[in-house]
Amino acid sequence: MQTGDTSLKQHVISRLVSQAHRPRGVVGWATGWMFALRPSNRQRNVWAVSLLEVRPTDRVLEVGFGPGIAITEFARRATRGRVFGVDHSRTMVRQATRRNAAAVRAGRVRLTRASVERLPSFDGPLDVILAVNSAGFWPEPVDRLRELRHLLRPAGRIALVSQPRCPGATHDTTDRAAQELRDLLTRAGFTGLRVETLDLDPPVACVLAVNPADPS
Ligand SMILES: C[S@@+](CC[C@H](N)C(=O)[O-])C[C@H]1O[C@@H](n2cnc3c(N)ncnc32)[C@H](O)[C@@H]1O
Repeated sequence: MQTGDTSLKQHVISRLVSQAHRPRGVVGWATGWMFALRPSNRQRNVWAVSLLEVRPTDRVLEVGFGPGIAITEFARRATRGRVFGVDHSRTMVRQATRRNAAAVRAGRVRLTRASVERLPSFDGPLDVILAVNSAGFWPEPVDRLRELRHLLRPAGRIALVSQPRCPGATHDTTDRAAQELRDLLTRAGFTGLRVETLDLDPPVACVLAVNPADPS
């Protein structure tokens, strides 16, 4: 039998998971700020972008950008390229657009409210794709990753990042998440897989992969 405390805890956890999946309304706005201000969230986003070695002319896409921390980092690097972002949360699109207002006004960053299942056009092949703590929410993730691979130019790079936020997450939780991401990327046809780890509590795994030069 559940105690009142247990069911309250479960209720709070399920509300938090639902807000992480699609931040909405005032609570979603506050959740976005929490994502943006929490030092480990900022660190994992900045670190993930640094691993992708973005060049000034790169055309970059982030899926599930939330408050837009990685978008800011991409915009600092892809100074002559273009940064695209999609997120299905209206609240996050507003917040990330505010955070990156100058680059959006300059046309260097384009943030769209869209789900990974129904992506807009990006007017040409992409060089880099990133998703941080987002792929776990996608329906049919192998199909989504295959679609994303077809948007990349040959030898284009992808990074999927996971910092498990479930209560009690440890090194083992992160290792399991990395293995799951590796498996998804392999099944979607990516090659050259490499896993990097950032030693936070819990650790962050970034799985990097490449679109093969002769994609099938
Ligand atoms: C846990 S938040 C992470 C936000 C950000 N990447 C970060 O690390 O701060 C997950 C984000 O993915 C977005 N998201 C989840 N499922 C999505 C989908 N199917 N299509 C587009 N965005 C999605 C959510 O709206 C949310 O902004």
